[in-house]
Amino acid sequence: LKNKPLYGKKCLITAGPTYEAIDPVRFIGNHSSGKMGSELAHQLLDQGAEVTLVMGPSQVTTSSSINRLDVKSAQEMYDAVHEHISDQDIAIFSAAVADYRPANPADSKIKKSEDTLSLELVKNPDILASVGALQHRPFLVGFALETNDELEHAFAKAKKKNTDLLILNSMRDKGAGFGTDTNKITMIHRSGEHQEFALKSKADVAKDIVNEIIKQVV
Ligand code: C5P
Repeated sequence: LKNKPLYGKKCLITAGPTYEAIDPVRFIGNHSSGKMGSELAHQLLDQGAEVTLVMGPSQVTTSSSINRLDVKSAQEMYDAVHEHISDQDIAIFSAAVADYRPANPADSKIKKSEDTLSLELVKNPDILASVGALQHRPFLVGFALETNDELEHAFAKAKKKNTDLLILNSMRDKGAGFGTDTNKITMIHRSGEHQEFALKSKADVAKDIVNEIIKQVV
């Protein structure tokens, strides 16, 4: 273990969707599977790191060698991240966090009545940006899923969230993004450079990302 490149390094990863309660039985969620984050967690583990995985609701199973913290909502994910972030060397934010949550989740199941129903939503905290703003922060990797003007939006996001490395997914690329076993990424570097990769399995994409982290951190 001691000759592995990430031996002695602590890594925290967020993965999966978040579920934002409307009432005790309903939620606002999304189609994130948690696969990309789980592949990253296993790849970091293979390279010798001590891995904490903060996981939203997901069917994906993970090695018992990973310190897995299961959470539901964005607020729970935020709290779990901030409880553990201070001694991390590397943090990767691959979770698909809900931007908004119901302002006043009901205590009991909402009954059917009127023809229309409005839900008031309030903004969730941006977990990645909150870590990017810390004075003592780990090497920071974020994800961005874009549909148009991808590079321009990704560079703006990298700057705003203060990432060392941003992984861009385009919705226009077949086989990339939610639910699939494959992904196609572009790496956005702090230097202003970017680097496009071919369509690969999520396991191989995780290897490319972890190799880049090793290059920059070790
Ligand atoms: O702003 P956008 O949601 O496109 O940013 C995506 C990146 O920010 C991802 O790395 C995601 O995990 C992270 N994020 C977060 N908390 C939020 C929203 C996004 O950590 N509330």
